[in-house]
Amino acid sequence: MAIIILGAKGMLGRALVDVFSRDHDVLAWDQEELDITDADAIYSRFHEMRPRFVINAAAFTDVDGAEVNTRAANLVNGTAVGLLAEACIEWGSTLVHYSTDYVFDGENPKGYDEDWMPTNPVNAYGRSKLLGEQALWRIGLERLPFYLIRTSWLYGPHGKNFVDTMLKLGREQKEIRVVNDQHGKPTYTYDLAHATLEIVSGDEEKYEPGVYHVTNETPSEGITWYDFAFEIFRLARLPVRVAPISSEEFSRPAGPARAKRPRYSILTNTKLFRRRPWEEALQEYLETGSGN
Ligand SMILES: NC(=O)c1ccc[n+]([C@@H]2O[C@H](COP(=O)([O-])OP(=O)(O)OC[C@H]3O[C@@H](n4cnc5c(N)ncnc54)[C@H](OP(=O)(O)O)[C@@H]3O)[C@@H](O)[C@H]2O)c1
Repeated sequence: MAIIILGAKGMLGRALVDVFSRDHDVLAWDQEELDITDADAIYSRFHEMRPRFVINAAAFTDVDGAEVNTRAANLVNGTAVGLLAEACIEWGSTLVHYSTDYVFDGENPKGYDEDWMPTNPVNAYGRSKLLGEQALWRIGLERLPFYLIRTSWLYGPHGKNFVDTMLKLGREQKEIRVVNDQHGKPTYTYDLAHATLEIVSGDEEKYEPGVYHVTNETPSEGITWYDFAFEIFRLARLPVRVAPISSEEFSRPAGPARAKRPRYSILTNTKLFRRRPWEEALQEYLETGSGN
């Protein structure tokens, strides 16, 4: 069974390749092997490989950068998803695609379950990811079996992420100011990769194609970046004072490329087995996987 993993050199892509290649033959492709915005290249590569599964972890993920490079973000996160989906229909492949909590407006403190229709993302990145979701819905589950997996606050080895940023700052500074009014759920890339494997290799009645939310187990109201930072320093035994600040204080002085972030990025999972608690996953990352 051929499985293509796209965005294989990205943070999630690397964890997917690692986890899937233990039991499956995997084609690990990044932009050099296949640019997902190139329709002809997609067709010829899929024609050659006839994949059973296409797992798309390729994306434009620079949230602030998307405010200025909006066209590029829309192309990779929006248009390209439609191109991949059409090619999957042609070759009878199942598509697994990742999206984000940022497709929601972030106004609901109770969070968003899989059936909640995303509207009004607060930034260009969220809007570009919503374009990708809409491309899949336009095609529909009748024509293409797809798994749309939303995740949030992702961290793992070999990627730019909040945990590594905090560790770096924590070694340089005695006090760090961290936003305490944005709520979300952290997700370790390896736990998301295992969840994906479970979905893809489980029986189809159990994991019907559709929307799934995958995060580490976190209180229903989420945690804040401040809580996350506090736990990082506690587990890493770094003597740093963490000072809570508001998003407004953090954004000052406002730069043109600074994207707004949603207040409540809370994905609710009603379909899958729960992942382990976020503190446990974080501890494993700090002990084994941290890029620092
Ligand atoms: N990071 C988060 O906190 C977060 C949160 C929620 C959801 N997500 C979603 O999770 C998924 C994985 O995110 P991630 O953080 O692992 O991303 P990442 O580390 O930025 O990796 C994305 C990969 O896609 C590649 N890529 C970019 N444009 C491409 C193109 N046109 N053709 C082929 N490959 C291309 C990138 O290559 P270059 O590096 O060369 O550009 C990179 O290797 C994405 O769908 C993202 O939206 C992420």
